[in-house]
Order: sequence, then C-alpha cells, then structure tokens
Amino acid sequence: MPDQASVLFVCLGNICRSPSAEGVFRRLAEEQGLAGKLRIDSCGTGNWHIGKAPDARAVGAAGRRGIDISDLKARQILAEDLDRFDYVLVMDRSNLADVREMWHQNGGTEPRLFLEFSQSGQAEVPDPYYGGEDGFERVLDLIHEASEGLLEDIRGRLA
Ligand code: 4NP
Repeated sequence: MPDQASVLFVCLGNICRSPSAEGVFRRLAEEQGLAGKLRIDSCGTGNWHIGKAPDARAVGAAGRRGIDISDLKARQILAEDLDRFDYVLVMDRSNLADVREMWHQNGGTEPRLFLEFSQSGQAEVPDPYYGGEDGFERVLDLIHEASEGLLEDIRGRLA
C-alpha cells in the first residue's frame, strides 16, 4: 500500500473553484491528520489568469469559513501533471473533455469529475464566475461534501 497520495484539482481559470477545493480539502486533511501524507495542488485548463490570486469573491467566501486561500497563484495544467498526481479531479464536463484530450495524448492518471466522491447527486461544480456571491457558497458546500468522500477513498488506499 502506498503511504502518500497526491491530488490535483482542475477548473477553467484556477481562480474560483479549484483553489477553493485546494483550500477546503487541505483544511479537512489537516483536521483528519492526513495532511502529512498528501500533496495537494490546483490548476486551470485556461491561461488567462496565470500568476493571479484567486477571485476576491472566492477568497471572501472561503475566509468566512476560516480558510485562507489568498496566497494561491493560478497556473495552467501541464501534460506532466497527469504523471505527477494520483487523483486528477475536474469540476465540470467541459474541464473533463479538455483534460481527457490531454490524457489521450499523454497517458498518466485519467481525470475524473470531483463530484464522483459526493453524495449530492450533482455531477458538476457549477462555474460561479459570472454569478453572484451565493454561487461561491454553493461551490464551497459541494466541495466540502466531496472532499469528505475523497478523504475516505484516500484513507482506504493508504497504508
Ligand atoms: P474557475 O472560474 O474556472 O472556477 O476558476 C472561472 C474563472 C475565470 C473564467 C471562467 C471561469 N473566465 O472566463 O475568465
């Protein structure tokens, strides 16, 4: 059994959903004493926001739950990421199509929808970028719930 696991969260811009997922998942892993066994990162399929901090609305919503994501910096996914992470978890079907194309070319870890680990009955974490503040709360709720399921899966795999 492996004693380490690595998780990459992927969305479009890497300024709303995937940095939120990185922050929430890291917090839960810390609370469950698993953080030392995990490598956690996030990225976007797009290149528009490279080097930028997360969207102020995402920083604010996470901050209200006591999670600081203000230091994260957006980056774009690389083909090598599929070789470097055990879990490549995308937010919506559009992200899935984009990363699957990379996976077909490169091989490595097959991308999956993050909400496969959720009981919500929803398949996608909706893009909150063009909506209001409540979209960001919904994103955090979905991410939190899926993170619990993901940690359970990882716990089952680790030595
Ligand atoms: P994210 O949200 O994929 O959750 O980071 C978006 C951020 C930026 C854009 C779209 C979605 N954009 O079109 O710039």
